[in-house]
Amino acid sequence: MTNTNLNRRRFLQYAAAIPGFAFTESNKLNKTPNSAFKADVEIALTAQMTEVSILPGANTRVLKYTGKLLKGPSGTLKELPSYLGPVLNFEQGQKVRIFFYNQIPEPCVTHWHGMHVPQIMDGHPMYAINQGEQYVYEFEVKNPAGTNWYHSHTHEVTARQVYQGLAGLITITDEIERKLDLPSDEYDIPLIIQDRTFTSGNQLHYALNMHQRMQGFLGDTILANGRRNHVVPVKTRAYRLRILNGSNSRIYKLGWSDGSPLTIIGTDGGLLEKPQTFPYIMLAPAERVELWVDFSGRKPGSELALQTLSYQGFSMRMGGGMGMGSNTMDQGNKGTIVKFAITKQVSDSPRLPDTLVPIHRFTAKDASNPDIVVPIAIGMRRMTFNLNGRTFDMLDYTNQEKIPVNTVQRIRISNINPGIGGGGGMGGGMRGGRGGGMMGMIMAQPHPIHLHGQQFQILSRKPGHADSAYAAIKDGFINSGWKDTVLVMPGEEVEIIKPFTDYTGLFLYHCHNLEHEDMGMMRNFFVS
Ligand code: C2O
Ligand code: CU
Repeated sequence: MTNTNLNRRRFLQYAAAIPGFAFTESNKLNKTPNSAFKADVEIALTAQMTEVSILPGANTRVLKYTGKLLKGPSGTLKELPSYLGPVLNFEQGQKVRIFFYNQIPEPCVTHWHGMHVPQIMDGHPMYAINQGEQYVYEFEVKNPAGTNWYHSHTHEVTARQVYQGLAGLITITDEIERKLDLPSDEYDIPLIIQDRTFTSGNQLHYALNMHQRMQGFLGDTILANGRRNHVVPVKTRAYRLRILNGSNSRIYKLGWSDGSPLTIIGTDGGLLEKPQTFPYIMLAPAERVELWVDFSGRKPGSELALQTLSYQGFSMRMGGGMGMGSNTMDQGNKGTIVKFAITKQVSDSPRLPDTLVPIHRFTAKDASNPDIVVPIAIGMRRMTFNLNGRTFDMLDYTNQEKIPVNTVQRIRISNINPGIGGGGGMGGGMRGGRGGGMMGMIMAQPHPIHLHGQQFQILSRKPGHADSAYAAIKDGFINSGWKDTVLVMPGEEVEIIKPFTDYTGLFLYHCHNLEHEDMGMMRNFFVS
């Protein structure tokens, strides 16, 4: 019997024991299309083992989503080179059916990150299928225009499967966006940033020593759209860049090589109310940011690079006496991500709109019960990060994790006192994040917290450390748009507000440092 079957039997046992959770029809694997669902778009998406050329010389063995458009507007599916899945371009209101075939020799499941879809379509690890099986995802695109993505979400191996290649981008358009006339087609550039380490034989290296397990995997090579030293030829005009940090755990401090500010037009959940400029942007795993970049006025022959700037890699800050022997690049190292080579002079360019889309700004008072604040407290026990003191258990949720459907909830994510029990010597390190010992160092980690389901807004951010390391990154948070992932720095407390409408069932929330997620830093909300 395969793993998945074994797991499912176990889930059924769990489910039977959970009051209020019926593991019935609506929770079963959706293996065949529903004839009542009239799809506008049909896609075949296959996870397979294949080889691609990334570095000069030998091909690299990867896992890759390959796609085929079966029905729908041409342009729905755009191939990217290298190991990444095709970019899926959807329209708001479209009904999408995706036949997902698993051809890799282990269980796999696909999550549509950022999309508001029913539980059974959300890629919860309980829905993993075995090699040779099919899962049919059917959902209406409810999200507004923006940039989302899809990736494997398989129990305990998400990090490795994503690392090996199982990820791709999703773009959505809608009426409001079309009226804005933003740069489109060749002027609308997807940019997926990931770090990898290659063996001398050009194979992806993924082995975690204890330190890497704790801080997450950091590769020594930065890839953009699956390519090293990526250069994009551009004209002297404005472009839209859709950037996804698809890395397992690396957090980038993005900036332009000439020091000019970044013009931000969108975040995880879509466009901002109006463009905003930032000196740099902190982009954690799973976060997206959309940039407006205007090359007009630049000389053909010149270049502009998007870089990750140096900052204090928090997990390394305590350093002293560690001797962990990590062979990876520090979190906060400077490096070039992609270069834009200005190759062609053109005379006209679209103008940056003054306003983009209307956003209803929530305040705490908009919560269905403003007195209730759902906690997400980052903790740690026995070298494993947890949320509210618990690690992932497939169908488990606590009373505190029960959310009434069609409500708006305040949620407070705190990365303040990861509270290891005992150990007097460790206490100082945990609270202040600056103890000399190993515990202190490991605890003081940033965690990008992701909530499945609808996009949320950030109500407030309470910094913990008003020190120089924090000062060097604090202007890189975009707190004004729709988000599904928020970076919570050591010592920080971030309050968000999130609607839970339309769909009932289990929806995950977790750290999107994928090594942390696989380690169990993930829980379910039960929406009912
Ligand atoms: Cu992108 Cu539950 O993840
Ligand atoms: Cu984490």
